[in-house]
Amino acid sequence: MKIGVIGTGHVGLVTCGTLAHLGHEVVGVDTDAEKIAQLEAGKMPFFEPGLQELVDEATQAGRLTFTTDIAEGARDADVVFICVGTPPKASGEANLAAVEAAARDVARNATKRTVIVEKSTVPAGTAGRLRRTIERERKDLALDVASNPEFLREGKGVEDSLSPTRILLGAESDHAFEVLCAVYKPLIDKGCRVIQTDIATAELSKHACNAFLAMKISYANAMARMCELAGADVADVVEVMGSDPRIGKDFLGVGLGYGGYCFPKDLQAFERLAASLGYDFPLLNEVARINEEAVMAAVKKVEDTLWNLDGKRVALLGLAFKPGTDDTRLAPALGVARALIERGSSVVGYDPQAGANAKSDVPELEIAEDPYEAVEGAHCVVVCTEWPDIGSLDLAKIHDAMAYPVIVDGRNIFDPKEMAALGFTYLPAGRPPIVPT
Ligand code: UDX
Repeated sequence: MKIGVIGTGHVGLVTCGTLAHLGHEVVGVDTDAEKIAQLEAGKMPFFEPGLQELVDEATQAGRLTFTTDIAEGARDADVVFICVGTPPKASGEANLAAVEAAARDVARNATKRTVIVEKSTVPAGTAGRLRRTIERERKDLALDVASNPEFLREGKGVEDSLSPTRILLGAESDHAFEVLCAVYKPLIDKGCRVIQTDIATAELSKHACNAFLAMKISYANAMARMCELAGADVADVVEVMGSDPRIGKDFLGVGLGYGGYCFPKDLQAFERLAASLGYDFPLLNEVARINEEAVMAAVKKVEDTLWNLDGKRVALLGLAFKPGTDDTRLAPALGVARALIERGSSVVGYDPQAGANAKSDVPELEIAEDPYEAVEGAHCVVVCTEWPDIGSLDLAKIHDAMAYPVIVDGRNIFDPKEMAALGFTYLPAGRPPIVPT
């Protein structure tokens, strides 16, 4: 099939590579000429494991090209996926201007019956508006609107896209369902489950999933606060919770909470959608509040231990919003960095991938190329992202390099017994602190 993909961000580019891998002829479109030039030169605009290989395979096979011209993406296309950004407005609502513009331009340039698919996360009701936009543009052509939300995680995007847990298809015509099933036929033949719904249901389901996952994380972090007050151990509490299959063990990882471009923005947009529909959903605001509290709980531990932060040096290990990505958007690590800098501390950070992005977000942050360089002379280390190479550091070497051997473990990656044996002051999240006597 001939497929256009509008937007070559995390979702769009992974979608381009995946659809070409499935055997389709794909045109990736972006208004950012610099990004397209980079992609044409075979360079990925961000780090995503396996993406380079996937895109190289597709471009070399002649199944994937890039352009800034939306007409090229729309011409002869059976399907066009809209993967443009839906950034938050000041109110928290999703800004859908780019989605509208993409749909309008695709409709203007379509040359045959095309299924226009929302892949970007949009509030329920968006498809209806898109349909009206499209109908205004083209009365001469039957164009279908559908929703096919992605569930891909950054850092595991390629894996999630090639082996999805389910394919959600929201559509209102048999034609749209048939075309989308044909797009994903190789995955469906391998046994991937397809869930077919109406469009509003598909749109709402995506927000429902992300908000629920964020709620699980915040619930676990609220348990961490409770455990700190009660002298209990949250590692065991979540173990008990997670061993009940009705709860499940995933997304109960406590620490600094969630960041990234999806959960914080989608949660806010979902709350705004609820309000605009007339449903009061304060639970969502509470999830966000507990998430902010998780960052401040770690900052408070640094302050309580170091007393005055003026003249103190704190090293942050991990800056990306999670391991496996160079993305620092709304990364909890940057929240920690800003709060410590505001309180007078000098802050140095190390991350295997995200140093440059963190520096451009927080210019006062010093970036170290190596974790041992970062901790040299530090009065405290805060573990912010659980990269595997941070978990396997030589802790004795770190102990000797630090001015004060204090570790605030914002991801609970270290073993308290080992920390005690090494003589650290060790302050995990929701677990009993280790303070040498
Ligand atoms: C998320 C969804 O998982 C994905 O389905 C959706 O399409 C996009 O949003 P992503 O933002 O890439 O994906 O990251 P995810 O792996 O879900 O993690 C989100 C955040 O939650 C990260 O900051 C992570 O560190 C944090 N997290 C995750 C926890 O704090 N605890 C956990 O137990 C799990």
